[in-house]
Amino acid sequence: MSALLNEQPAAVSPVIALRGVNKSFDGQRVLQDISLEVYPGEIVALLGASGGGKSTLLNIISGLLPADGGEITLQGEAIARFSQWRQVGYLFQEDRLLPWRTVRQNVNLALENTPLSRGERQQRVQEALRLVGMEQVAGKWPHQLSGGMRSRIALARSLVAGPQILLMDEPFSRLDPQTRSAMHAELLRICQLKNMTVVIVTHDVEEAVILADRIVILQPNPGRIKQSVALSLPRPRQPTGRDVAEKIRLLRMEV
Ligand SMILES: Nc1ncnc2c1ncn2[C@@H]1O[C@H](COP(=O)(O)OP(=O)(O)O)[C@@H](O)[C@H]1O
Ligand SMILES: [Mg+2]
Repeated sequence: MSALLNEQPAAVSPVIALRGVNKSFDGQRVLQDISLEVYPGEIVALLGASGGGKSTLLNIISGLLPADGGEITLQGEAIARFSQWRQVGYLFQEDRLLPWRTVRQNVNLALENTPLSRGERQQRVQEALRLVGMEQVAGKWPHQLSGGMRSRIALARSLVAGPQILLMDEPFSRLDPQTRSAMHAELLRICQLKNMTVVIVTHDVEEAVILADRIVILQPNPGRIKQSVALSLPRPRQPTGRDVAEKIRLLRMEV
């Protein structure tokens, strides 16, 4: 979110750095020679067609999936699987709320298997729900919530551990346009408040332009970085705003 950082990336250490990352499934190359740096407080959108390797790349950055080769560092340290509950929040494409757990218990899921005490967990869950404006539904069941509310609860769960890095895989693709746009505003507010570094995967050019400081376009078969586009448009960005609409139009020709 910082224009300064975008202008002088070399002066600051990246929060996320990938160098020469490759990945194949069953001998089929899915990602090829991916190099990417994401700087503190930056929101980077990974934009590309379906099947282009976006989710695979996000899974590699999160440590959920090993790369075949290349180098991945988070905050300067080589990525270590399973040791990063405090550092990285992950928001999946589906909200993955468990129907047999209350909202509070769903958010608490992300803190299970952490060394936090019960009291600390309760406090964090409450804070995360407050952050997304959902304290009042803590005792409800997922089926009692609207799509927008479920989306906020999933966001709360990805934030409850207090991560510095938030990874999101098409998190709002199932929402209606109005709710999606409300979630965009909510996300930007929280990212700024918590100074988080964000990578959001999307196939939606408009979403990428509304949210991102930088758009990285992935080209499929195998997934490669085609182009990286910095966006300096002022916020809040309306899709109908002249400069925003023009950017969307230009990028649609690239994806
Ligand atoms: N676990 C897996 N095993 C085998 N193939 C996979 C696996 N995950 C993804 N793929 C394949 O890798 C390619 C990229 O998938 P994915 O990363 O999900 O793309 P995107 O998120 O851009 O739609 C697809 O062809 C997909 O079928
Ligand atoms: Mg995907």
